[in-house]
Amino acid sequence: MFSSSFPTLRLRRLRFEPAIRRLVRETILSPDRFILPLFVRSGEGIRQAIPSMPDHFQLSIDQLVAEAEQAVSLGLGGIILFGIPETKDSIGSDAMSETGIIARAVRAVKESVGNKLLVMTDLCFCEYTDHGHCGVLHEKPDGSYDVDNDATLENLLRQGLIHARAGADILAPSGMMDGMVRVLRSGLDREGFSSLPIMSYAAKYASAFYGPFREAAESSPKFGDRRSYQMDPASATGQAVREVQLDLAEGADMIMVKPALAYLDIVRLVRDRFEGVPIAAYNVSGEYSMVKAAAEKGWIDEKAIVLESMTAITRAGANIILTYWAKKLAQWL
Ligand code: PBG
Repeated sequence: MFSSSFPTLRLRRLRFEPAIRRLVRETILSPDRFILPLFVRSGEGIRQAIPSMPDHFQLSIDQLVAEAEQAVSLGLGGIILFGIPETKDSIGSDAMSETGIIARAVRAVKESVGNKLLVMTDLCFCEYTDHGHCGVLHEKPDGSYDVDNDATLENLLRQGLIHARAGADILAPSGMMDGMVRVLRSGLDREGFSSLPIMSYAAKYASAFYGPFREAAESSPKFGDRRSYQMDPASATGQAVREVQLDLAEGADMIMVKPALAYLDIVRLVRDRFEGVPIAAYNVSGEYSMVKAAAEKGWIDEKAIVLESMTAITRAGANIILTYWAKKLAQWL
């Protein structure tokens, strides 16, 4: 037993030298655990800066392909794509079209990188609808609108099949609709995609940290908010467990907790409850922008802060991290 105490026991012995600190280290960061989010729009030669997210751009497909190739050479685990369509409508038709922005982008990227990089796609409608909500709307008795869960599921499967046929490697439904994983899994299996994995945004909170993303993806809701589908940050943590449980039962292969840093308790909870399940944490846009802004002012050391944050997310139990720093991290590591 560890009954001894000072002066026999000196915990600093394991800290004096860099080599011994490295030897006893438990949390190791590796580029192949990072996934880089990228925004794609139509056009040619476009790299349109996203003001609230320095070093990130809305990219035309040719530029996206170049980024994907860079991701390969940096040894990243993958990329996740978000499409910005030319035209939006009430149901988000572009997301369900073979010639829509995402379908074209995935085909182009896969043609270039083959199996050297995992190409994930976000399955949601907020970037594609003119109202900015994550699905089909229905009018409630009081005249207000809300997202129609089951009608959205039908479209979600259409969207998923478009991504699958274009060659996506992992589908990531992010709309927090009930039954989204079940509908996708059974539909994919029926259409011959039984080996295509699903990473479900299982515990996704209605968070103010998504602000810069909504500028980047032009996906802010035109009215109301997302609280009737994304989780309340103050809900019982057990609700996250139930969401994960349900998505796993419906066939999710991997699950996600989002955002990351303000929800490390949830990452840890899920890690402890679901042994063996790969857990991704999404280090979201607001988490990125805050650090970028402070670093630009010279108030913090960006590299040190980011490495410490990634260590914390990994230590909390995440196997995979979606982060806007993925490329930088690969260079730093
Ligand atoms: C939904 C989606 C969002 C993010 C990822 N997928 C926006 C939202 O839920 O409002 C946010 C990611 C980020 O903030 O970096 N398509």
